[in-house]
Amino acid sequence: MTVYTEKTHVMNTYARWDVTIAKGSGTTVWDHTGKMYLDCTSGIGVTSLGHCPPAVTAKLHQQLDTLWHSSNLTQQPLQEELGQKLAELSGLDQVFFCNSGAEANEAAIKVARRYAQKSKGEDRFEIITFGQSFHGRTLATLTATGQQKVKEGFSPLPAGFITVPYGDVEAVKKAATNRTCAVLLELVQGEGGVHPASADFVTELYDWCKQNEILFMIDEVQTGIGRTGEWFSYQHYGIIPDVVTLAKGLGSGFPIGAMIATEAVAAAFSPGSHGTTFGGNQLATTAGMATLLEMEQQNILPHVKELSQYLLGALGELAKQYSDQIKGVRGLGLMVGIEMNGEVGTYLKTAQQKGVLLLQAGPNVIRLLPALVIQKAEIDQLIIVLKEILELTKA
Ligand SMILES: Cc1ncc(COP(=O)(O)O)c(C=O)c1O
Repeated sequence: MTVYTEKTHVMNTYARWDVTIAKGSGTTVWDHTGKMYLDCTSGIGVTSLGHCPPAVTAKLHQQLDTLWHSSNLTQQPLQEELGQKLAELSGLDQVFFCNSGAEANEAAIKVARRYAQKSKGEDRFEIITFGQSFHGRTLATLTATGQQKVKEGFSPLPAGFITVPYGDVEAVKKAATNRTCAVLLELVQGEGGVHPASADFVTELYDWCKQNEILFMIDEVQTGIGRTGEWFSYQHYGIIPDVVTLAKGLGSGFPIGAMIATEAVAAAFSPGSHGTTFGGNQLATTAGMATLLEMEQQNILPHVKELSQYLLGALGELAKQYSDQIKGVRGLGLMVGIEMNGEVGTYLKTAQQKGVLLLQAGPNVIRLLPALVIQKAEIDQLIIVLKEILELTKA
């Protein structure tokens, strides 16, 4: 395999690691030299069933020999099938298929505005979002994102987004006007540092949105499809939002995004109001359906809950032992953050040398997004490596 290190014709938009992944199976990946790694990143929360899950691979092979793509002008029975499944799992009604998380959020923003403007008038367009959030890299979704660094150099940004502190319902109430049409939030902020929302914040905000006819939209791009131990993170909070967005874990690595809405909200779209060439094509929907069926087959949700407790318990012990380096451990399901007292770049690099891939969230947080099929023995292996690294870095 050619490894590109100097001259590149690919734009410089990623701070790439010095790692080239050549092959993957389950929770293991191998680099181009054959070195083996325990993958605790899942390609940033994507390969939830592990790499090349056999059941999904088999279905994709079959579909590859049948039909890859027919336009969205034709009937799409595989979209219907996956749409029905997502509606059943989510408690919502209708799905729009796209190709990524940013596109799913873009669709959510559009449907919210169109719904509000149709039902309440032209000047209902503002969306309230939250500090440290991440919603994508398109112009609208980076404007919705509560992090200044993703916005720099891209002005003028689209109007109609207000960001308030995460967890602060009073700030939402203060920011809301008769122009407000929706709130958009993650219930566990991923890129922003693995911050689960408190139950009080979520229920108070939800009730207030309902009372004021403001749409409650949850970005489940990172948290969805079993990542937190429920199909969707809002199921931990006993609420059903108006709009939900998905991507990452839905296709086991095949690009697919989805925006799910209640029937009333979905009715704001009509032919021509939104669309995409590739969204929901036969390969993507096959990957999505096969992923969901395999997760059901493996009864993945209780496994995630059990392994989450095991992981959080072990990390809690480490945090006690190395309190000089670890500030705290938090998370939901298999979306876990270890907040360190300093920058985490060196921890990640040392872990790579020791054959473990970890992620970062914000400057000080080590983020773990292992495959949902991870086993206790692999968590033990992770803990051993983390301990070795903490020993090395001990003052
Ligand atoms: C919560 C959340 N929303 C949206 C996105 C954007 O998704 P994508 O990179 O597929 O456009 C991400 C990506 O990290 C995310 O974590």
